Amino acid sequence: MSSPISATSIVGARPNFVKVAPVARALAASGSFAHAIVHTGQHYEADMSERFFADLEIPPPDVHLGVGSGSHGEQTARMLAGVEGVLLARRPDVVLVYGDVNSTLAGALAAAKLGIPVCHVEAGLRSRDRTMPEELNRILVDQLSEILFTQSREAEANLAAEGIPRERIRFVGNVMIDSLARCRDRAEAMAAWKGNGLARDNYGLVTLHRPSNVDDPDRLASVMRALGKVARRIPLVYPVHPRTRNRLEAAGLTGANGRLALVPPAGYVEFVSLLCGARFALTDSGGVQEETTWLGVPCLTLRTTTERPVTTREGTNRLVDLAGIVPGVEEVLAAPARRVSPPELWDGRAAERIARILAERLRP
Ligand code: UD1
Ligand code: UDP
Repeated sequence: MSSPISATSIVGARPNFVKVAPVARALAASGSFAHAIVHTGQHYEADMSERFFADLEIPPPDVHLGVGSGSHGEQTARMLAGVEGVLLARRPDVVLVYGDVNSTLAGALAAAKLGIPVCHVEAGLRSRDRTMPEELNRILVDQLSEILFTQSREAEANLAAEGIPRERIRFVGNVMIDSLARCRDRAEAMAAWKGNGLARDNYGLVTLHRPSNVDDPDRLASVMRALGKVARRIPLVYPVHPRTRNRLEAAGLTGANGRLALVPPAGYVEFVSLLCGARFALTDSGGVQEETTWLGVPCLTLRTTTERPVTTREGTNRLVDLAGIVPGVEEVLAAPARRVSPPELWDGRAAERIARILAERLRP
C-alpha cells in the first residue's frame, strides 16, 4: 500500500473552523491522507475558537502558534514566521488554506515560498473593493495557489479572468454548506431562540463586525440607532464579535434593552439554531450571506458590495445601506418568508469532492 499523502491545513479564525471541519472529515474518510491542523491563534477566546472545534467535531490542532491579535502587518508577519517553521519541520505534500482571513494569506505565502503546493478552498470570490483586507488576501492567495476550489460558477469566471490557468480551478460547491447541512437537525433541536426569550419566526438575528461598520465611532453609533429603531418593531438578538464589543465599549454604546439583546459570540450550533428560527438576518458577514440563502431566511447585508453575488441573484440576500435598514426590515416583514432552491452544488458534499480531487492529483 502506498504511503498516505501528507496534508496540512492552516486555520486561525472563526470562519476557517467552519470550513476546515468537513474537509478534515472527508480527508480522514478517504483513507488516502495524513492530515494535520495548524491553528495560528488569530482567534483565541474560547467562544471564538475552542467552542468551534467542539461543536464542529474538528480534531484538536496538531500545532498551535498562539499568535493572537495585532495590526495586519504585525499579525500576518508573526503567522508567516510561525507557519514557515512548522512547514520546514513537517514538509507536507500539500497545504490547504480556507477563505480570506490573515491566517489564509500567511499560510499560503509560507507554503508557496517553500515550494509546497497550496490548495485554496473558497477561491475566486471578489468584492472588487480593495479597501477590504479580505479582498487583498483573496487576490494574493489565489495567485499563490496551485489548486483552487470554488463555491460558484462566478468564482471560477473571476479566476479565469485574472489569468489563472483553467486546469488549476475546480468547482466543487460550498464547504460552509457542508457544515450547515450536517448541523441543521441538531440546531433545530436546540431551539436556541427559547433560551433568549424569543419566539420562532418573530425576531431578527444580527451579526456586524466589519471594520467599515464598527471601527468608526460615528458610524457605529448610527448603526446602533438603526438597530434600536428596528427593535421597536421586532426583537433582535445580536451575538457580538470581540472587535465590535471592544468598539462598543470604547464608544460607550453598550446600552442594550430587552428588545435588542447584545449577547456574547454564539457557538456554531447555537448560531445555526438562532438562524433557523429567525424571521431575518441583518449582517455584514460573508458566511451568513450564504447560510441564509441555503436556509431560505431573508438576509439584509449592510455593505456596498458582496463577493458572493450568487446569494443576491439566486438567494435571499439583499445589500442595504444605513438608511435602507428600517425600510428593508419592513419589506421583509410584509413579504411571506421566502424559500429558495440552493445554488448549484451547495449540497453538503463539497468536501468529499475536494478529498477525491486531491487524492487523484497528489497520489504518487
Ligand atoms: C477576522 C477576519 C475577517 C473575518 C472575521 C471573522 C482578517 C483580516 N479579518 O476579522 O475577514 O470576517 O475574522 O470573525 O483576517 N479579538 C479578541 N478576541 C479574539 C479575537 C479577536 O478580543 O479571540 C479582538 C482583538 O481586539 C482584535 C480584534 O478582535 O484586534 C480583531 O480581530 P482580528 O482577528 O484581527 O480580525 P477580525 O475583525 O476578527
Ligand atoms: N458564527 C457563529 N457565531 C456567531 C457568529 C457567526 O457561530 O456569533 C458562525 C456563522 O456560521 C458564520 C461563521 O461563524 O457563517 C463565520 O463567521 P464570521 O461572520 O465571523 O466570518 P465571515 O464569514 O464574515 O468571514
